[in-house]
Amino acid sequence: MDIRRRHLLLAGGVLGGGLLVHERGLRFPRLGFEPSPLDTYRNYLDAELRLRDLIFISHEQRGKIALRAFSPNASVRLTPRDDELHLSVNNVLPGATLVVGGDAGKVTEQIAGISRQITIRGGARQKFELQWHRPASTPLKFAVIGDTGGGAELTWCLQRAHALGAEFLLHLGDFNYGPGEYDEAVTKFHQAAMPVYVAIGNHDFNDHGLVYPAFRQHIGPLNNSFSIAGTRFINLDTAASFLPAYAGNRGQLIKQLKRAGNPGPNQLVFSHMPFIDVRGDDKDHVVSRTAERSWLSDSLRKIGVQHWLCGHVHRSKETRMDHFTQWTAGEGLGYEDLRNKTPTAQMLIGLTSETGGLEFSWAPLEMPWHMHTSPTHAAKLKRDGLSQWYQELIPTPSK
Ligand SMILES: [Fe+2]
Repeated sequence: MDIRRRHLLLAGGVLGGGLLVHERGLRFPRLGFEPSPLDTYRNYLDAELRLRDLIFISHEQRGKIALRAFSPNASVRLTPRDDELHLSVNNVLPGATLVVGGDAGKVTEQIAGISRQITIRGGARQKFELQWHRPASTPLKFAVIGDTGGGAELTWCLQRAHALGAEFLLHLGDFNYGPGEYDEAVTKFHQAAMPVYVAIGNHDFNDHGLVYPAFRQHIGPLNNSFSIAGTRFINLDTAASFLPAYAGNRGQLIKQLKRAGNPGPNQLVFSHMPFIDVRGDDKDHVVSRTAERSWLSDSLRKIGVQHWLCGHVHRSKETRMDHFTQWTAGEGLGYEDLRNKTPTAQMLIGLTSETGGLEFSWAPLEMPWHMHTSPTHAAKLKRDGLSQWYQELIPTPSK
């Protein structure tokens, strides 16, 4: 190879690499390129589908397809190729009504909690559109919490949110603290009494290696937005830093939101990392790169976001920032109950009003003592001199 050709190849490689970094960005820790957006189109032997706010979960046998919604505005356009097609759709608001575009007489729906079983008979080669509508103009109540792990504490948080009357739960990430918790949490999300929309946490992104493909496969994209009850909910990925800050799917979403203009009176972001660590001035537990902080903060101001909902630091607190209020809602493991030897942990509740307002309040988590069982407690209990007290409270089962 002559020197000129080698230089040309090298220049081409540098340019290509530069474009890739510019478009998709690098993620760290664990250096890697941001993945492409999730597929919204499938062309199977038994059906052609176009999805909106849904992911494909499985297609294990002909005529049977499983989907999961990642917003209350999910819809699917499809053309069956056989005379019978079964579609299961998980994570749908229990009170939402199915609206069918096409020959509705061929579509039947069975409702079981957050799951819809759809059967289309005699519709081969016809076009259908299925979408679920929440009753308009009724106030919306939703719950917010993060840092639950995937064990008994997550079970409790899901039950508590439902008992408090929430229509859905915004999970702020970190459901994966130990072996088996990823699968455990996914199963619990799929079987919850209300839909769960999840922001990815650092432990769900990178834990003994890059584990986020499971998130995209079973839960949804790492960034998305939806509007309901006069409120735009923006799910932003802060699980690992972006280089450059504006790259990747998050950057693309923010760009679209900036172009889209004002969608209504209320806008919130649900994400994992805080801007301010409410436990003190710790730079390791916040959106930490200076360029990323200023770009994100400036973007939120331009979009008109009023609320930043986050977890990660296992505390509950309202903090007024320059352009928005940070709501730290990270007591999903309820460790504060153990530290204080009395129930103090809280869950954040959002409530929209008929006049277009959005208010937040704190509800006691009231986690029963026997559900404080995360393996992550051990080190903290030792640090806080509470190991013996905990052992008497929740004895380790004998093997
Ligand atoms: Fe975290």
